[in-house]
Amino acid sequence: MTIPTVPTVTLNDGTSMPLVAFGSGTKHRGTDASKHIADAIKAGFRHIDCAQMYKNEESVGKGIVESGVPRVELYITTKLDRLPPGSTVRDALKVSLTRLRTDYVDMFLVHVPVVHDDLESVWRDMEACRLEGLTRSIGVSNFTPVFIERILAIATVPPAVNQIELHPYVLKASLPILEYSRKQTIVVSSWGGLSSIARFSGGPADPVLSRIATRHSAACGQAVTQAQVLQLWLRKKGIPYVTTTAKAERMAEYLWSLALPDITNEDEREINEAGSLLHRRFLCLWMDDVVDNPAAEAPRLD
Ligand SMILES: NC(=O)c1ccc[n+]([C@@H]2O[C@H](COP(=O)([O-])OP(=O)(O)OC[C@H]3O[C@@H](n4cnc5c(N)ncnc54)[C@H](OP(=O)(O)O)[C@@H]3O)[C@@H](O)[C@H]2O)c1
Repeated sequence: MTIPTVPTVTLNDGTSMPLVAFGSGTKHRGTDASKHIADAIKAGFRHIDCAQMYKNEESVGKGIVESGVPRVELYITTKLDRLPPGSTVRDALKVSLTRLRTDYVDMFLVHVPVVHDDLESVWRDMEACRLEGLTRSIGVSNFTPVFIERILAIATVPPAVNQIELHPYVLKASLPILEYSRKQTIVVSSWGGLSSIARFSGGPADPVLSRIATRHSAACGQAVTQAQVLQLWLRKKGIPYVTTTAKAERMAEYLWSLALPDITNEDEREINEAGSLLHRRFLCLWMDDVVDNPAAEAPRLD
């Protein structure tokens, strides 16, 4: 059977981004990810999500070359880390491009707002990198509306994407970001979408996911896993997602979720409700304070 083609979402700058990305962070952070990246691309992933902070861009570049898939068929995202003293955004991106063995990335994100003293000047430099063709699109990650407002106040190009932790246990806390981003035509994408089973298992979403997986398996005539139900939940909301694994069989499992029919509105509502019973955030714990109180002083630490 042929692996399904990854659908794309259209961004506010007119470009398209594959709905699903394979990440080189979390599990692969600080490791040689080359084999996993090559395997993921060979399996059918076309969007690779990396970051300067993961300290493995060189191995991602190696994996991309080893996959044998031409650069033009791939979508590569990387993210700006805290700037070393004396270095510019452009310098940092150029280093990433060398490591990734490419002339441009498709998406360049400001990884975390709170590590930059002058966010406005960082954004102007991101815009300049786009104008120069070093990146096709620019966006942000782990940004609450307070930080996006600061950028929009000076931007000539608004962020195309805001990549945030998004799974059932942070859905309720993320509603202000989702609502604000929708109004600003910024696409919210998810990292950590499998957290309720991968990091916070034993919570109220478990029995609901299990029930829906069983129901969906019967309706589809094939086994549907809880991880696939979580990915269908994101897809139902129109949210692109970054996932990862170190296991070849899971790469296929994630890609096959694209061939499954949508979960129902009722399934989506049940997962939302179960998720709202527990709040669990994996990273950027400061986001809760800022989302709850947009007037709060922005924290300085990640
Ligand atoms: N922008 C940011 O600040 C930010 C932050 C974090 C991550 N990210 C990006 O997002 C990518 C994905 O992040 P993530 O790891 O949080 O993604 P995720 O999709 O939530 O979780 C992936 C993990 O789930 C595990 N998993 C899958 N099915 C499972 C099951 N049935 N039971 C238990 N565990 C299961 C996998 O373990 P195995 O490896 O054992 O299969 C894998 O390591 C990262 O690599 C990175 O590129 C971005």
